[in-house]
Amino acid sequence: MKGIILAGGRATRLRPLTKITSKQLLPVYNKPMIYYPIQTLAKAGIKDILIIVAPEYSGQFLNLLGSGSEMGVKLSYEVQDEPRGLADAFIVGEKFIGEDNVTMILGDNIFDHDFTDNVVSFKSGARIFAKKVPDPERSGVVEFDKNYKVLSIVEKPEHPKSNYAIVGFYIYDNRVVKYAKSIKPSARGEIEIVDLHNEYLSRGELEVNIIEGMWEDAGTFDSLLRVNNIIAEKVKQGELK
Ligand code: TTP
Repeated sequence: MKGIILAGGRATRLRPLTKITSKQLLPVYNKPMIYYPIQTLAKAGIKDILIIVAPEYSGQFLNLLGSGSEMGVKLSYEVQDEPRGLADAFIVGEKFIGEDNVTMILGDNIFDHDFTDNVVSFKSGARIFAKKVPDPERSGVVEFDKNYKVLSIVEKPEHPKSNYAIVGFYIYDNRVVKYAKSIKPSARGEIEIVDLHNEYLSRGELEVNIIEGMWEDAGTFDSLLRVNNIIAEKVKQGELK
């Protein structure tokens, strides 16, 4: 299993903080944000990691993280010239993925869930994760039947059919590269991850695991502030370093 951290993008919602650096290098209490997705992958046993960055600040990632040896991981880097969408990670990362399965985590997503069992038990298809939230319309939303079989996945629906938001941690088999290449850009000009999920869903090969615990997407001023406070509290309680 290989790991990809998607850490490019425009981060327009955090301007002017992100006029001079990348969102994923901003502080989350006592560490740069990117440390958290690296630790989430490492904790799940994924140590061979590709970081996909935007061209503007690519050097800063290298200066900060280097080979990854200080964090006990092996890091590679690729530049995504334009933010073409989340599913573009599997096109940019094609060489790195090679013949393997791959887990992707978004560079601004912060979890305390331990994904080890979810990763170790993965065989094929796609396995994505959902969490019950009060405001599902901000995310992709999954609709289940009574037996938690997935009926549909909709990106940022006006009228969500459930409270389960899809979080930024995804596991795929190697076909993800081929499927990503076949996706047509959406109205906003991106190749959408929801199209990948619908591809697996139409084949009966999409599984959604529910997670509990802390999950924050640190992409807005309010969520960034919230996650700073949560991590500060955990450090003070001795749960985190
Ligand atoms: P978003 O938060 O959806 O986008 P963004 O980071 O560009 O922010 P904004 O909406 O405020 O302009 O992206 C989620 C994560 O994925 C984030 O870590 C950036 C990353 N990303 C890429 O690396 N490449 C892309 O093409 C896209 C769309 C996102």
